[in-house]
Amino acid sequence: MLNNKKIILGVCGGIAAYKAIELLRLLTKAGAEVHVIMTRAAREFITPLTFQTLSSNPVHTELFNLIAEQEIGHISLADRADLFIVAPATANVIGKIAAGIADDILTTTVMATKAPVLFAPAMNVNMFTNPIYQENEQKLRRLGYLFEAPVSGTLACGWEGAGKLAAPEAIFESAVTALTKKTLTGLRLLITAGPTREEIDPVRYISNHSSGKMGYALARAARRRGAQVLLISGPTALTAPGGVTVVNVTTAGEMQREVMARVAGCDAVIKAAAVADYRPLVRNSVKIKKKADSVTMELVKNPDILAGLGGMERRPFLVGFAAETDALSANAEKKLSEKNLDMIVANDVTLTDAGFNVDTNRALLLFRDGSCSECGLMSKEQLAGTILDHLAQHLAER
Ligand code: PMT
Repeated sequence: MLNNKKIILGVCGGIAAYKAIELLRLLTKAGAEVHVIMTRAAREFITPLTFQTLSSNPVHTELFNLIAEQEIGHISLADRADLFIVAPATANVIGKIAAGIADDILTTTVMATKAPVLFAPAMNVNMFTNPIYQENEQKLRRLGYLFEAPVSGTLACGWEGAGKLAAPEAIFESAVTALTKKTLTGLRLLITAGPTREEIDPVRYISNHSSGKMGYALARAARRRGAQVLLISGPTALTAPGGVTVVNVTTAGEMQREVMARVAGCDAVIKAAAVADYRPLVRNSVKIKKKADSVTMELVKNPDILAGLGGMERRPFLVGFAAETDALSANAEKKLSEKNLDMIVANDVTLTDAGFNVDTNRALLLFRDGSCSECGLMSKEQLAGTILDHLAQHLAER
């Protein structure tokens, strides 16, 4: 995801400095080349050796270090960076940068870089709410600097309130967003994800193996590309992607109501949800007792949400999914045409590395004009990116 990206991670002096280790791990795991700069105060909390070992790169601590300057000077470091993250960022360092002071390696390199800079502040709540700090932050925001806001909680100093460093995962997500080309800015996307559950009685239901991973990956990737995303989700164990509006539903009927109530104004709908095709005709109000040796249950058809969208007079760009166990291409083509779609993502759910409840997928993308594109084994994140690249291109051509 971050292959070939060069990131500078600036670490300031604060108790949250240890959390920068986890952030560094997330960045390197995603393929980024990370160069760490530590302030003098940061070195009071944690040693450079830890960052050096985990980043596999020398840690920069001094502005006038002759050897480091000869090998890779701070200006060269600033020039080569794709992104500069300062985490944790103290009130002192943010204040110095806002005032144009460059008196150590970190502030000097921030000043010298043309790369986007993302601050993740961490400080005492009274420092955070101090109008001087707030004015500095607002000034930097106006100048285009990015911020991952601190969260509320019990602070190391004992105070309660805002000032805790954001979770490393949240800072990582902001970093990836900052590095993603904004191909969907100004567009509204409605995405469905996960299974639906159709109740038989208060303890049993009909459902399927969808985990929601494919739909959530699409929502996250669309948000990173600048889209406004509405995610209508069946029951999943996943955490809602940051910056995405999530509407939780359980049944196909609820999903249909929410989709139809919110589709107006959307530029595209992507239906990755595995909607139950049938539901029990009768939902028992009490648990069905285990008496008879066999039971027969009458099922009735659920509304086809996607076909309903395809029948709209003025409809958004429609992307369906096809979960198939046989005749992948033929079945998907039939769905593309019968539901009046612009694009369909066909996946073979009998494979162990594709379809339901795994992190990877393989898909065949079929388009309204008869063209198709094959996507071999890749992560659901990567497939989401590929689907959105096609979507962006088609919307641009419309
Ligand atoms: O959630 P994961 O574990 O990551 O798994 C991903 C996935 C396998 C669920 C996903 O890749 C996928 O294939 N989703 C579509 C599943 C499905 O319901 O396929 P289908 O071929 O039965 O339906 C075709 C299309 O019609 C789908 O876009 C579906 O959302 C839509 N549909 C189906 C029935 C219905 N009543 N209403 C619908 O809108």
